[in-house]
Amino acid sequence: MGFSSCASLFSVLFLLCCYLLQVGIAIEAITSSQFIKDPGTLLSKDGNFTFGFFSPKNSTNRYVGIWWKSQSSIIWVANRNKPLSDSNGIVTISEDGNLVVLNGQKQVIWSSNLSNTTSHTTAQLSDYGNLVLLESTVGSMLWQSFQKPFDTFLPGMKLTRNKRTGEKVQLTSWKNPSDPSVGSFSISFIDRINLHELFIFNETQPYWRSGPWDGVVFTGMQMMTNPYINGNHVVDDGEGNIYIYYTVPKDISLVVYNLNSQGQLIAKWWDYEKKELQIIQTSQLSECDIYGICGAFASCSSLKLPICSCLRGFEPRNKQEWNRHNWTGGCVRRILLQCERVNNNTTSTKKEDGFLKLKMVKVPDFAQGSALTPDICRSRCLENCSCIAYSHTAGIGCMSWTGNLIDIQQFKNGGLDLYVRVAYAELDKERNTTIIITTTVIIGTLIIVTCAYFMCRRAANSPEAKLKPSLKSKRKKNIKAFQFFNKVGTSEDNTSDSIIRTLSQVKLQELLLFDFERLAIATNNFHSSNKLGQGGFGPVYKGKLQDNQDIAVKRLSRSSGQGLEEFKNEVVVICKLQHRNLIRLLGCCVEGEEKMLIYEYMPNKSLDAFVFDPSKNKLLEWRTRYNIIDGIARGLLYLHRDSKLRIIHRDLKTSNILLDEELNPKISDFGMARIFEGREDTENTIRVVGTYGYISPEYAMQGLFSEKSDVFSFGVLLLEIISGRRNSSFYDNEHALTLLGFVWIQWKEGNILSFINTEIYDPSHHKYVVRCIHIGLLCVQELAVDRPNMAAVISMLNSEAELLPPPSQPAFILRQNMLSTMSHEESHRRYSINSVSITDISGR
Ligand SMILES: *[C@@H]1O[C@H](CO)[C@@H](O)[C@H](O)[C@H]1NC(C)=O
Ligand SMILES: *[C@@H]1O[C@H](CO)[C@@H](O)[C@H](O)[C@H]1NC(C)=O
Ligand SMILES: *[C@@H]1O[C@H](CO)[C@@H](O)[C@H](O)[C@H]1NC(C)=O
Ligand SMILES: *[C@@H]1O[C@H](CO)[C@@H](O)[C@H](O)[C@H]1NC(C)=O
Ligand SMILES: *[C@@H]1O[C@H](CO)[C@@H](O)[C@H](O)[C@H]1NC(C)=O
Ligand SMILES: *[C@@H]1O[C@H](CO)[C@@H](O)[C@H](O)[C@H]1NC(C)=O
Ligand SMILES: *[C@@H]1O[C@H](CO)[C@@H](O)[C@H](O)[C@H]1NC(C)=O
Ligand SMILES: *[C@@H]1O[C@H](CO)[C@@H](O)[C@H](O)[C@H]1NC(C)=O
Ligand SMILES: *[C@@H]1O[C@H](CO)[C@@H](O)[C@H](O)[C@H]1NC(C)=O
Repeated sequence: MGFSSCASLFSVLFLLCCYLLQVGIAIEAITSSQFIKDPGTLLSKDGNFTFGFFSPKNSTNRYVGIWWKSQSSIIWVANRNKPLSDSNGIVTISEDGNLVVLNGQKQVIWSSNLSNTTSHTTAQLSDYGNLVLLESTVGSMLWQSFQKPFDTFLPGMKLTRNKRTGEKVQLTSWKNPSDPSVGSFSISFIDRINLHELFIFNETQPYWRSGPWDGVVFTGMQMMTNPYINGNHVVDDGEGNIYIYYTVPKDISLVVYNLNSQGQLIAKWWDYEKKELQIIQTSQLSECDIYGICGAFASCSSLKLPICSCLRGFEPRNKQEWNRHNWTGGCVRRILLQCERVNNNTTSTKKEDGFLKLKMVKVPDFAQGSALTPDICRSRCLENCSCIAYSHTAGIGCMSWTGNLIDIQQFKNGGLDLYVRVAYAELDKERNTTIIITTTVIIGTLIIVTCAYFMCRRAANSPEAKLKPSLKSKRKKNIKAFQFFNKVGTSEDNTSDSIIRTLSQVKLQELLLFDFERLAIATNNFHSSNKLGQGGFGPVYKGKLQDNQDIAVKRLSRSSGQGLEEFKNEVVVICKLQHRNLIRLLGCCVEGEEKMLIYEYMPNKSLDAFVFDPSKNKLLEWRTRYNIIDGIARGLLYLHRDSKLRIIHRDLKTSNILLDEELNPKISDFGMARIFEGREDTENTIRVVGTYGYISPEYAMQGLFSEKSDVFSFGVLLLEIISGRRNSSFYDNEHALTLLGFVWIQWKEGNILSFINTEIYDPSHHKYVVRCIHIGLLCVQELAVDRPNMAAVISMLNSEAELLPPPSQPAFILRQNMLSTMSHEESHRRYSINSVSITDISGR
């Protein structure tokens, strides 16, 4: 009796002590003996996030939640549906180990609701704003608030959907700004065949959609170009789970996505001056963003009035309602499709249906994705009468539609091209406009030609073009070449200006010009037995000049207009470079339709022929591989730093590394290289070129390239050389890892041996190989700032004493589903615009 009353007195005293200690005090962990009582708080280690009691504006209810810096930026709420009516609430660990919110009567208002916890648990708030419940002795995580997202999407959180079970983790909005209980809007992934798309729902009705994910962006979401966000990633883990997450560079303030009570997805970032979260972007910019606002077969453009218009070949279902701006009825086809008639009337001889192209649109909902080439995509659609439209883009492949076309939006830029099936009669109208376009083009060409003529005259009169009389015949050709370069240079993008400027510095006269006949003789009239390989823009031949010198001749296909820019670029860039690890251009030939580049001949062809070919793999022992890695690094450093120009290669890959007799590496293929002028460090481009598997994240996502994007490609190359496996076709079925993911897992687990190509492994080299892999990992870091530059790489490669920083997780460790379902040819087409190369020798 005495004992128990004593014990209860003690416990009362203890609780009183705790109570006095805890009131209004910020602590770092909640344990069974340490709780928080309104208005006490739990702080993250860095003090940026707080977990505690708050009242929304215009409300006296008390809630328990997490906020960033100030209570005006609530990011998570525990008891959203069960507010506390007074300030007697307590957050503590219950006897069964759950994190609970109790009211003044000690009733459980909210619980982390785990059924089988142990009693020794601790709750902490991480520096990322994640409230976690840990098992105290082992430290394993039992529960986290990131698994139960609220209305705010934070870096590190995942929105998921399981395609098999339909289970999903979604964001749900507040009811209104003073009431955090579950509102009518939610955002989550939806199930569409082979496509990933985000939807905002108003209750169960679609309210907004993002457009399909193309591996880099959501194609119908113009806000996703947020410069502060380092990359959004949609991942299919191969087990039916798809999820999206994003990261923010370390030096940037917090960026969050918030689904507000009006159903808008809003990107916000922390403004240090105003000390609150500021809106930077909104998903719904106009009425057109509202799902299906124009009804079927109509497109919405916020630039037009009225905003809705029927697609070409379609007319309003109900003209009166349509004119009253009631779009709900949508549009119907004006002329029946031929294929529909064929079913009706077999004797018909009418012309076949065709497609009308809609440029730069948010493609309609209910697409079916499949990995087909553009041609097959089109013909499959044409064959099947139920196929109403198709679209093709490299990141997704083929999309086709069968039912009504709903939710098409016209953009000013971006978006995809949509091909809508219409009857032949509708196409005829197109012909008239083609005639107009053709006329315009002809007139335009005439003007350009006239301009070019005067420019050439000016060029011919300029002092630079005044050549020694002894070079007279050569001069004619040079002027011809010069004209050619000028002509190509005047078209294309704004960067051609800078190329033209550099061109005038390049003394083309100094470049050896070969006669077509001479090359024809050297290559035995471009005989197929001399063919070394076939690039995308034309074949490469081996030749022997009269003085017995071996050469390689890259001959641009006559039909290939695409390669001209690259051809010119390559001449300009490589003309000025000389380094033992760069391929040497001997000359070029520009005669009539023929454009050719002449290189020194590399008897050992390209690196990929050795590294990825099991039979030749043995020929490259470790020492040779090391020399190759070092040589590539030196060649790159020369490009980046040592030559008079600063050059970014932009398409470094094993097939662009050639090997001479002694297996010295030579970097080739400068078709995509960029010359940097002045002191700028990064440049932005709309046209992302390069090869899938070698492109750095910031370049793929934002078109930003710098020497660090070459460093990334170098890192991939290095890891490929050591492992003997291709990044682009590495496949790990179990975890859907890329080569980078695989090496990272092995590295973390201390199992790096399984990554190294067994042919080259020799215990005596272990230390060096591991060091090389370490350097490779540093080169493929997610953030460009975390990657070393080439000078640092060379110093790391050559000095064993130098201490290397530990790598963190590389970019692109998981295989993104859509990219992987693309056929290899497809991915190549998208990412490697330049394939004119003497390196495409090995059969792919
Ligand atoms: C908060 O985060 C910023 C970076 O976002 C960091 O610099 C700072 O140290 C953190 N802690 C506090 C108390 O501000
Ligand atoms: C709070 O109430 C005032 C006056 O009723 C109103 O003007 C204000 O907009 C309300 N604030 C919020 C966040 O609802
Ligand atoms: C806790 O779990 C039970 C059953 O698993 C469920 O009925 C209840 O709604 C859950 N409570 C909360 C707050 O999630
Ligand atoms: C609780 O049970 C689930 C499944 O029954 C299990 O996955 C989880 O690890 C268990 N947790 C603990 C702490 O035992
Ligand atoms: C959401 O749906 C409800 C009915 O389901 C409707 O009354 C409301 O206007 C809708 N909200 C918006 C923003 O469209
Ligand atoms: C809009 O038109 C549809 C028929 O196309 C009709 O059923 C509906 O009542 C109309 N709505 C309004 C608000 O007039
Ligand atoms: C056959 O043609 C008629 C009129 O042209 C049309 O209304 C009907 O839908 C067609 N039937 C099929 C099966 O296409
Ligand atoms: C098929 O079309 C022709 C002419 O267009 C018409 O004379 C004939 O009756 C049609 N046959 C059927 C079965 O609809
Ligand atoms: C036409 O397409 C539909 C829907 O995609 C499909 O169900 C049908 O099998 C296709 N028909 C043929 C002949 O391919």
